[in-house]
Amino acid sequence: MPLPPALRRLTPDRLRDDPRLRALAVGAGLIPPRTMHSDAERELLVSLARDARRVVEIGVYEGSSAAALARAMGPGQELHLIDPFGHHPTALPSGWGATERATRRVVARAARPEGPRVVWHVAFSHDVAPGWTAPVDLLFVDGDHAEAAVRRDWDDWHGFVAPGGHVLFHDARDGRPRGRGLPGPTAVVDRLFRGPDGPPAGWRVVAEVDRTVAVRRG
Ligand SMILES: C[S@@+](CC[C@H](N)C(=O)[O-])C[C@H]1O[C@@H](n2cnc3c(N)ncnc32)[C@H](O)[C@@H]1O
Repeated sequence: MPLPPALRRLTPDRLRDDPRLRALAVGAGLIPPRTMHSDAERELLVSLARDARRVVEIGVYEGSSAAALARAMGPGQELHLIDPFGHHPTALPSGWGATERATRRVVARAARPEGPRVVWHVAFSHDVAPGWTAPVDLLFVDGDHAEAAVRRDWDDWHGFVAPGGHVLFHDARDGRPRGRGLPGPTAVVDRLFRGPDGPPAGWRVVAEVDRTVAVRRG
């Protein structure tokens, strides 16, 4: 049974942000995972996931977006979740971090028995990519937000995206009209998709919502 929002608002920030307390409360379902996206971004993400055979999320944290994906997907679909967990200064604000155990419980509740097959990769995305072979219909890039790391995620993973499939970059609209974001993901999307040479062959931008840029293959 979740705690009432009015009670949660009384909690001092120091306690609210404490990773160990959060893990206990999030894992037990007393508080929801921290929301890292807007309603419109979540709608874009789940709308692209509904018909995807295989979805890969890089960067899971407390499982807010993974739970949305798990709720939207059904049997016969695969949801791959990649996160090493712990503290990563270019992935989250200082002092924040999630634990594998709590996030697994969040996603298991959302996936229900009739949900997708959930496959966990508790590792860095660049350590998962070398052993990867399967086509991907939706790739959500929301892990390490340093420019080099986001670029590496694109380089490592975009070749697996099937024709008609999508990549979503989160936090990639810093300084854009009605946008928000961070310098790393924004620089990668700018260089790849907004440069003088145009987007990479066979790819195009299909949606921009709040902090998210969606690109499609084919
Ligand atoms: C911004 S959070 C993800 C938020 C999540 N997608 C959501 O919407 O709720 C970033 C996460 O990326 C993880 N991370 C950091 N480096 C990573 C890497 N190289 N590969 C995969 N995940 C990484 C961190 O542990 C952190 O949990």
